[in-house]
Amino acid sequence: MAFSSNLNWIPLWSALLTVFVTRVNGIDIYLDWNVSITDGLIPLLVDQQVVIINGVFPGPLINATTDDVVHVNVFNYMDEPLLFTWNGIQQRRNSWQDGVSGTNCPIKPLKNWTYVFQMKDQIGTFIYFPSINFLKASGGYGPIRVNNRDNVPVPFPQPEAEFDLLIGDWYSGDYKHFRKMLETEESAYDVTPDAILMNGMGPYIDSDSLWYETFTVDKGKTYRFRISNIGGTLSFNFRIQSHTMLLVEAEGSYTNQITLNSLDVHVGQSYSVLVTADQNDADFYIIASPKLLYATGVAGVGVLHYSNSTTLAGGAHPSGPDAFDLGFSMNQAKSIRWNLTTGAARPNPQGSFNVSNIALSQTFILQSSRAEVNGQPRLVVNNVSYFTPDTSLKLADHLTNGTGVYELDEFPVQSVNVDTSYGTSVVSGNYRGWIELVFQNNMDDMDSWHLDGYSFFVVGFGNGHWTPDVRNTYNTIDPVARSTTQVYPHGWTAVYAFLDNPGMWNLRSQTLKNWYLGLQLYIRVYDPDPNPAKERPPPENLLFCGLFESQSLAPARHRHLNH
Ligand SMILES: *[C@@H]1O[C@H](CO)[C@@H](O)[C@H](O)[C@H]1NC(C)=O
Ligand SMILES: *[C@@H]1O[C@H](CO)[C@@H](O)[C@H](O)[C@H]1NC(C)=O
Ligand SMILES: *[C@@H]1O[C@H](CO)[C@@H](O)[C@H](O)[C@H]1NC(C)=O
Ligand SMILES: *[C@@H]1O[C@H](CO)[C@@H](O)[C@H](O)[C@H]1NC(C)=O
Ligand SMILES: *[C@@H]1O[C@H](CO)[C@@H](O)[C@H](O)[C@H]1NC(C)=O
Ligand SMILES: *[C@@H]1O[C@H](CO)[C@@H](O)[C@H](O)[C@H]1NC(C)=O
Ligand SMILES: *[C@@H]1O[C@H](CO)[C@@H](O)[C@H](O)[C@H]1NC(C)=O
Ligand SMILES: *[C@@H]1O[C@H](CO)[C@@H](O)[C@H](O)[C@H]1NC(C)=O
Repeated sequence: MAFSSNLNWIPLWSALLTVFVTRVNGIDIYLDWNVSITDGLIPLLVDQQVVIINGVFPGPLINATTDDVVHVNVFNYMDEPLLFTWNGIQQRRNSWQDGVSGTNCPIKPLKNWTYVFQMKDQIGTFIYFPSINFLKASGGYGPIRVNNRDNVPVPFPQPEAEFDLLIGDWYSGDYKHFRKMLETEESAYDVTPDAILMNGMGPYIDSDSLWYETFTVDKGKTYRFRISNIGGTLSFNFRIQSHTMLLVEAEGSYTNQITLNSLDVHVGQSYSVLVTADQNDADFYIIASPKLLYATGVAGVGVLHYSNSTTLAGGAHPSGPDAFDLGFSMNQAKSIRWNLTTGAARPNPQGSFNVSNIALSQTFILQSSRAEVNGQPRLVVNNVSYFTPDTSLKLADHLTNGTGVYELDEFPVQSVNVDTSYGTSVVSGNYRGWIELVFQNNMDDMDSWHLDGYSFFVVGFGNGHWTPDVRNTYNTIDPVARSTTQVYPHGWTAVYAFLDNPGMWNLRSQTLKNWYLGLQLYIRVYDPDPNPAKERPPPENLLFCGLFESQSLAPARHRHLNH
């Protein structure tokens, strides 16, 4: 510390104050990640490839506090290029660190690259995962916590402990084979996952089960579970036998606290719930049962173990809502509201933004469908299937205003008035304007959509086709602000976002197959003010690729792993 020479006469309380002040401004967190593929892990007791980070699956927790700066030096020991995205972390003015194909050139095999990003003005529960090459189907994902700063109390009594719980569907097959099948065989799209894993572990069946997730709790105490759907396809209903949960947070927003018997979690979403161990000493099932799936036996099962329990969990699993009752699910979604009065990343109330008063600057109506493009099974948004160029959009934007890589605003944002085609869709978002995004799901499956760079306000859900007059059903009083929302089959979801974060932002289906097969686009939010304080310049370790590959041949940029 700079004043260490004076420390001998600074009283203890003052030294503590220095630590406190440092914390308020955020600290630097340095992480080294070795990413590799192993055949040795057996979530489902079959030999298969799993993406591991520093030898573990799921990957390590990123445990940060509001405004901390995280440095993640990623060493790619796989045989494929790699990128990680930090789902829900807003990367304010800094889409250079977002880690999707449109913002970053991939980290090549046997290379390393350091992400540096700040948890600026955020709190909450998030996830990271590989964003390219369908790698997420084989793991490489993990939890992110952004804790409140010491000067902003959480809006509930401090829990006894916190548990990260990543739940997701899983295929026992090899991801490269599956990826190839998806590109050519339409039937591959409908392949059902083999299991739902909890923190990378298979279901608890009985006392002979070797490999399942268990959480030990003390009777009478309350715990925070940070639950995320890290899977690729299935939504699930989460519940704990004989226990209720208090919903408190959704992807970085404190919610109105509601007591639930079960909670639907859709692909890419994160929640915090408080669970009080208020039963007699025993073990209880923790269940994540798939929605909209006829197959039986595909449920995640873990155990809530009371520290003094001598009774194993047994008997039938606690039943949840009908897996096909989407009315239940939509009503629950509508009941998840923003707590307008509590502080979060800052002491002032979350609800100081009044969504009732806004003037919309843009509306995008985005229809998702299955389609054939050039004879291949694809998915389209407004008849356009996203084509991923070799050059990062952000790099092209920086060097040539996109020339040769994408055409700005060619994508039809409101209507399906083009033939089905491939396109590198980049559309302008009006800087500091409010945008209304309407997601229209023309498919038979659940879908879920995410916007990088922002939290959006989820104002409405409905069945059938969205029309302008359904706006009068929107909740503009206390819509929850989050970054991923579900879209029901043959239904719509509407969100508002305030585009105050300049950059190149991925708008995507979180459903892995949908994302991979073309359900994505980019919103380019451009601030014409050249003041560099508005948007960060590229980082010093900027990677080059595609059209600009040759620029990476400068010696300083051509580093091999040096150990
Ligand atoms: C990463 O791998 C290198 C080389 O095998 C090793 O020296 C290093 O300790 C590893 N780092 C971590 C964080 O596991
Ligand atoms: C996460 O960080 C917070 C704040 O520094 C600390 O209190 C907590 O113990 C950490 N948790 C874990 C699991 O590292
Ligand atoms: C690669 O890792 C080394 C440390 O092992 C680090 O000094 C270097 O900055 C990293 N390279 C990049 C591009 O982040
Ligand atoms: C467990 O049982 C022991 C012995 O009865 C008791 O002292 C202790 O408080 C119990 N612990 C909890 C968490 O209930
Ligand atoms: C909102 O948060 C405050 C704490 O700031 C809490 O007292 C209140 O109960 C919360 N409201 C609801 C409806 O959960
Ligand atoms: C938001 O604005 C609406 C319409 O002007 C008003 O009725 C409402 O009270 C405001 N809400 C808050 C929380 O200020
Ligand atoms: C990009 O567009 C801006 C604004 O139109 C212009 O000033 C700049 O010269 C262009 N840059 C390149 C590399 O074409
Ligand atoms: C959009 O795609 C569908 C399915 O391929 C096709 O039937 C329809 O004609 C296309 N729309 C337009 C306006 O071309």
